[in-house]
Amino acid sequence: MVAFTVAIDGPAASGKGTISRAIAAHFGFAHLDTGLLYRATGRKTLDGTPALEAAQNLMASDLQGDALRTPEVAQAASKVAAMPEVRKALVDFQRAFAARAGGAVLDGRDIGTVICPQAQVKLFVTASDQIRADRRWKELTYKGHKVTLDEVLSDLRERDRRDSTRADAPLKAASDAISLDTTTLSIEEAVAAAVKEIEARMAAQ
Ligand code: DC
Repeated sequence: MVAFTVAIDGPAASGKGTISRAIAAHFGFAHLDTGLLYRATGRKTLDGTPALEAAQNLMASDLQGDALRTPEVAQAASKVAAMPEVRKALVDFQRAFAARAGGAVLDGRDIGTVICPQAQVKLFVTASDQIRADRRWKELTYKGHKVTLDEVLSDLRERDRRDSTRADAPLKAASDAISLDTTTLSIEEAVAAAVKEIEARMAAQ
C-alpha cells in the first residue's frame, strides 16, 4: 500500500498546526511540523552558526522546547527558509517522514507544492490577518511574552510577505489543494471540516 500523506500548508497562525495535530490524533497518523526544522535552523543562526551548517546538523533534540516559539526565532526561521541550500538540506528528512507506514500529516508552506506533490490530501488553511494576529498574540501573551497586537500583526505580515515572495518554494496553495478558511470557525469546526475531506479521499482510495 502506498503511504497516505496529508499535506497542510498556510500562512503563520492560520490554524494549520492545531488542525494537523488533531488530524494526526484522529487518524493515528504521525505528524511533522516542518516549521520546526526552519525554526531550529534559524535559532542556531542567532547564535552565530552559518545557516547551511545548522540545517545539515539538526538533531531531534533541537526541535523541542518553547525557545523555538518566540517572535525572534520565527523571523530568523523565515529568513533561513528563503535560502535554497537550506531548503534543499531539509528535503530528504521531510520526504522520508511522509513515506512512513501508517500515514503522515506534514504541515508547512511548501508541502503540497514541493515536498509531497503526490499527497493524497492537500489542505490550504487561511484566516484573516486580524484573527491570525489575535490568536498568535493570545498564545504569546499566555506564555509571558510582552508583545502588542500591532507588533504581532506586522510581524506576521512581514513573514508572510517574505515566505510568499521568495523564489524557492514560496508559500502558495497547490492547484489541487482544498482551501479551508478558519476565520469564523471554532477549532472543532475547522478540525471537523478537515476530517471530512480526508475521509472522503480515504474512501476514494
Ligand atoms: O510554521 P512556522 O510559523 O513555525 O514556520 C516558521 C517559518 O519557517 C515560516 O515563516 C517559513 C518557514 N517555513 C517554510 O519556509 N517552509 C515550511 N515547510 C515550513 C516553514
